[in-house]
Amino acid sequence: MKVCMIGGGYVGLVSAACFSDFGWSVTCVEKDTEKLAMLLDGQIPIFEPGLDDLVARNRAAGRIVFTGEMGPAVSEADLVFLAVGTPMRRGSGHADLTYVYAAVAELAPHLTGYTVITTKSTVPVGTSREIERRLRMLRPDGDFSVCSNPEFLREGSAIGDFTHPDRVIVGVGEDDARARDVMSRVYKPLALRNAPVIFTTRESAELAKYAANAFLAMKISFINEMADLCEAVGADVQQVATAIGSDRRIGDKFLHAGPGYGGSCFPKDVSALVRTAREARRPLSLVEQVQTVNEERKQAMVSKIVEAAGGEVRDRVIAVLGVTFKPNTDDMREAPSLTIVPRLMDKGASVRLHDPQGRRQAEPLFEGARWFDSAMEMIDGADILVLLTEWNEYRALDLKAVKGLMRGDRLVDLRNVFQPDDAMRAGFVYEGVGRGD
Ligand code: UGA
Repeated sequence: MKVCMIGGGYVGLVSAACFSDFGWSVTCVEKDTEKLAMLLDGQIPIFEPGLDDLVARNRAAGRIVFTGEMGPAVSEADLVFLAVGTPMRRGSGHADLTYVYAAVAELAPHLTGYTVITTKSTVPVGTSREIERRLRMLRPDGDFSVCSNPEFLREGSAIGDFTHPDRVIVGVGEDDARARDVMSRVYKPLALRNAPVIFTTRESAELAKYAANAFLAMKISFINEMADLCEAVGADVQQVATAIGSDRRIGDKFLHAGPGYGGSCFPKDVSALVRTAREARRPLSLVEQVQTVNEERKQAMVSKIVEAAGGEVRDRVIAVLGVTFKPNTDDMREAPSLTIVPRLMDKGASVRLHDPQGRRQAEPLFEGARWFDSAMEMIDGADILVLLTEWNEYRALDLKAVKGLMRGDRLVDLRNVFQPDDAMRAGFVYEGVGRGD
């Protein structure tokens, strides 16, 4: 099967690499010349565990190639995936479909023989239908189908998520047996491993992606509010999360309280869903509230740190462990640190930063902060230690040694990584999230 992946970003590159590993012949089209040059040179423009090996292996076997030219890749393909960016449009909160429609216009003249075109990017309800309308205008003679195949992979565990999904969702047009057959074939290797491939209408598939992300965001906001309540009434949010999460109807995932969700997906998708619902005159008040809770959460974390520092951070040295929106990625998009760190500096704190992978992306974003390549060097002489992103290497820190290096004794653990008892034994005044006394 010949697959053309348009877009070599997170979703595109991971999907392209995984499809090639299934044995399909994949051409990944990347327009950004800098990114393309890296890919052609055997480098991976993003940090994703295991991706470099996967790409190298399949490149060596000739199953994946990179190009800047869409034409030949599209005309050869049985299946074209659109995996270009759909960023949030400034001001409106809508998904910006400029790149999607530009790709559609560019690929249209090259469609040759029966081809399935499918969105992999997260696109608002109705986009597949609109792509089809545009393609029919551009190519009245064309033999093609348009499908929706949203991707549910997470950064940091993208390959595992792609190859062992809870489900694959494929939206196909009414009675479009040919498209269904092509989509079944491309996912056969997963179906053989018992991954359910669920066929829906295209609208349902498009909406399911937003609904899934909004639901997960809601779970996080729920447990974050519960954490605040735990602090007020003397309960422990982790015990509450374990207690409710063991009910299979609730599930134990996405119940880790923290500084609020970030990343390239949840904030953007929640916002776009809110817009879609308002336009359909069916506002989603619950989802709108999730947005508000998450925004307020990041601010509240600043107050938490200031309070832990005794009400004043002016001229205090705050050492921050981790700035990326979550571990195992160098992605800084919508990271809570982007709100928290500048506020601390505004309040006169001297902020030091460390991140195992994020420095290159993050350094230009935090003017006035001091960067360290080693966590222990950063901690040396600090008054307050704040853990913002739960990288594994921080879990292994020897708290006694850490405390020994510091000038102060405050540890604010915004991901509940450390055991309060261990921290206290090491001499810290410990503040976690939702850990009431
Ligand atoms: C998310 C979804 O989990 C994926 O299924 C989806 O495919 C992806 O968006 C997307 O739409 O492309 P991702 O943004 O990579 O994936 O990251 P997550 O692991 O979901 O984390 C998102 C944010 O929620 C992070 O800031 C994380 O720290 C936070 N989070 C997550 C919590 O605060 N608590 C939790 O219990 C879980």
